[in-house]
Amino acid sequence: MTNVSVREGGPALKGPFDFQDSPLSRAAHQPLLLGVFLNLQDIRYSRLPTSNSWTFDYNVKIVQTAEALGFDLAFTRAQWLPKGHYDGEASLEAFVALGAMAAVTNKIMLISTMHVLYGPLHPLHIAKYGATLDHIAKGRWGINMVTGHSAVSHEMFGRQRIEHDKRYEMAGELFDVVNSLWNETENLSYKGRVSPWQLENAWVTPKPLYGRPILVNATGSPAGIEFAARYSDLIFITSPGGAHIESALETLPAHIDTIRNAAKAVGRSVKTVINPIIISRDTPEEANAYAQSIVDNAIKQPGQKIDSDAHAWRGRLDAKNKQGLGLGGNIEIIGSPEQVVEQLEALHRIGIDGVQLSFYDFAVDLEYFGRKILPLLKKAGLRVD
Ligand SMILES: Cc1cc2nc3c(=O)[nH]c(=O)nc-3n(C[C@H](O)[C@H](O)[C@H](O)COP(=O)(O)O)c2cc1C
Repeated sequence: MTNVSVREGGPALKGPFDFQDSPLSRAAHQPLLLGVFLNLQDIRYSRLPTSNSWTFDYNVKIVQTAEALGFDLAFTRAQWLPKGHYDGEASLEAFVALGAMAAVTNKIMLISTMHVLYGPLHPLHIAKYGATLDHIAKGRWGINMVTGHSAVSHEMFGRQRIEHDKRYEMAGELFDVVNSLWNETENLSYKGRVSPWQLENAWVTPKPLYGRPILVNATGSPAGIEFAARYSDLIFITSPGGAHIESALETLPAHIDTIRNAAKAVGRSVKTVINPIIISRDTPEEANAYAQSIVDNAIKQPGQKIDSDAHAWRGRLDAKNKQGLGLGGNIEIIGSPEQVVEQLEALHRIGIDGVQLSFYDFAVDLEYFGRKILPLLKKAGLRVD
């Protein structure tokens, strides 16, 4: 990211970490950021019954419960996929759904995934929509900037997938402009270098409360890490190895170092957040039995056949990495409450700044997490009131 507006002589660009009282800066005081990784897409991994639902009302309840438990953020992904892919019954669009949740929550940060290169989605749209949501959410809303790794989703928009690294270059130019619009004191004119966007005397109000909305991207590739180093406050990472906790703990430290160094090289820092699924019951045996019954009822994912050029999950294809059970999380954390806390502590120890948790049965397992695991996390010093 340029440090100043793309307009010559324009203002310095600020973000939420430049303001001590922004929701993001306040949350960053927690030893381990805590998020919930929603499933508005209704992806189903198993026929074992759950209370889960893609509906707005169900997910509002999850976010409000997480907020009451003191969670820092809620995130939801978004996909554009033809019929027959892994959306279950239906899926809600993330930008609209989490944006709407801004009005029914008070403290929790809300990160919507947005495919920023599909469109026509002009920088002015993103800047104005973002500024509006920033004010509704009082600085709690942000974008997970994704560029589209699957060929079919670009094709749905009548385009061909753009080359992997070029996508990040285009997204970079886009956010140079969007961020300039958020911080500008004058009208902005701009003509894209690598992107088709043009602006003439463009102006956006209101100015976001803390420089700009929270910016995030999810990646594992060198180009994506470089992008995160320049543009993101948080980077959603994956285990470069397998989903088994041992494999994740083995492969993550070098990966985290790479990310930290990339940010340092451009004079910034970026917080790493990973998304485990938590499968827990009072005893290890009960937790393992729960995990096993999910596996015994597993549904084969049609989505696995998608032509994707993503780097982030390549470790899943490498037989030398210890894989998990295929429960859906990026890392699988299975065990009694004490064992869950041990595994979260281990992630924190190797340098993970935050976790975004998903659950097999959201309402039931989140309630269990709040009652049985969260007190232990506090006792371990990973969460403070
Ligand atoms: C935690 C996480 C969440 C993601 N959410 C989405 C999403 O909602 N929609 C999407 O199209 N891609 C999503 N992705 C994929 C990324 O946008 C990206 O395409 C992928 O990580 C590959 O990027 P890379 O090749 O730079 O590693 C997600 C990735 C991760 C790790």
